[in-house]
Amino acid sequence: MPRPRKPDVCPPTGSAELAMLDVYMPMMKSSAIISAGRLGLFEALASGPLSLAALAEKIDSSLRGTTTLVDFLVAIGYLEKRGEAVANTASTQRWFTSAGQVDYTPGLLWTHEAWVMMGSLAETVRKGEPETTLWEAMVEKPHLGPLFSAYMGAFAADLGPDLLKHVPVLPSYRRLLDLGGSHGLHSIRFCQAYPQLSAVIVDMPSALTETGPEIERAQLADRIRLSPGTLQEHDWGTDNDLVFYLSVAHNHSADENRLAIRQIGESMTPGGLLVIHEYLAETSLDPLNAAFRLTLLLETGTQTHRHADYCDWLKAAGFTAIQRIDLEPREKGSLILARQRKTKMPPGNR
Ligand SMILES: C[S@@+](CC[C@H](N)C(=O)[O-])C[C@H]1O[C@@H](n2cnc3c(N)ncnc32)[C@H](O)[C@@H]1O
Repeated sequence: MPRPRKPDVCPPTGSAELAMLDVYMPMMKSSAIISAGRLGLFEALASGPLSLAALAEKIDSSLRGTTTLVDFLVAIGYLEKRGEAVANTASTQRWFTSAGQVDYTPGLLWTHEAWVMMGSLAETVRKGEPETTLWEAMVEKPHLGPLFSAYMGAFAADLGPDLLKHVPVLPSYRRLLDLGGSHGLHSIRFCQAYPQLSAVIVDMPSALTETGPEIERAQLADRIRLSPGTLQEHDWGTDNDLVFYLSVAHNHSADENRLAIRQIGESMTPGGLLVIHEYLAETSLDPLNAAFRLTLLLETGTQTHRHADYCDWLKAAGFTAIQRIDLEPREKGSLILARQRKTKMPPGNR
């Protein structure tokens, strides 16, 4: 069942007296928050309020510039005045500092890069696909890969507890295959929670530059292995008990996903579990879903897919017990869990 619309992520606008406010204010809001992230302004306030002069010194910026930026961030509810000092609001402290629940500062740094890419949206719309995909851009500009992975890592830190809660790992499971595993945080979390597991992370080299050190820091180098390369060129063996296909399907076409899910099924042990995390295309797209599809058109030339599509691909590959779990808040997307049959199907029956 499609979920009812939720308008609060991006309310339909056009009601402003001056139509250009609908364009100007989101631009200024994004630009100010991104700049605060780039300057380390929120982090500078993480341990407590500061005077404007002390804040300006800490972020190595002019007093005039800092004051003007702070005034706007106060006006839009990201900072608050405490007498002569300025402080993070509770929400800013929670989401944009290392002292909070999840630090989405890597998302601000990534959005600084995405901002430039968005400049070619009209050309992409005209052509129906990007001139250069994100993956090609990452080869040309090597700093993009680690920035993108760090941003995905922030999402993964947020999603991790939901995955642990909803993914049943049987005591017999030994091998985890993490396709498009990037930062490695999901494999690390599951290997920490389940000592019998060892993992292989498959991703493009641009996504894995920081993953080895992260695995070392978690002292899991003996249990988590990196396998750099594309999904298309990989042989994943036949003994995977648990497979993660997390936020990877929207980077692929329907045909590529149908094939990947069939190959995943062939790589799994009977009774194994495939976990898909996705943002599902509903019949009626809410603003966030529609915005994400526009981003995908521009960045990778791909799109989100419908729940019914996943069910078709999974059934064709012989998966059973397909289960959909819509996460809360809904911005976290949905999980689809599916079991590999108890006995392998002969290829002719697929
Ligand atoms: C949106 S990120 C998700 C990362 C991670 N699975 C997570 O859930 O946080 C998609 C990942 O898939 C990887 N990816 C996309 N297309 C791929 C391909 N054809 N082969 C290998 N990796 C791919 C990207 O490099 C990126 O790391």
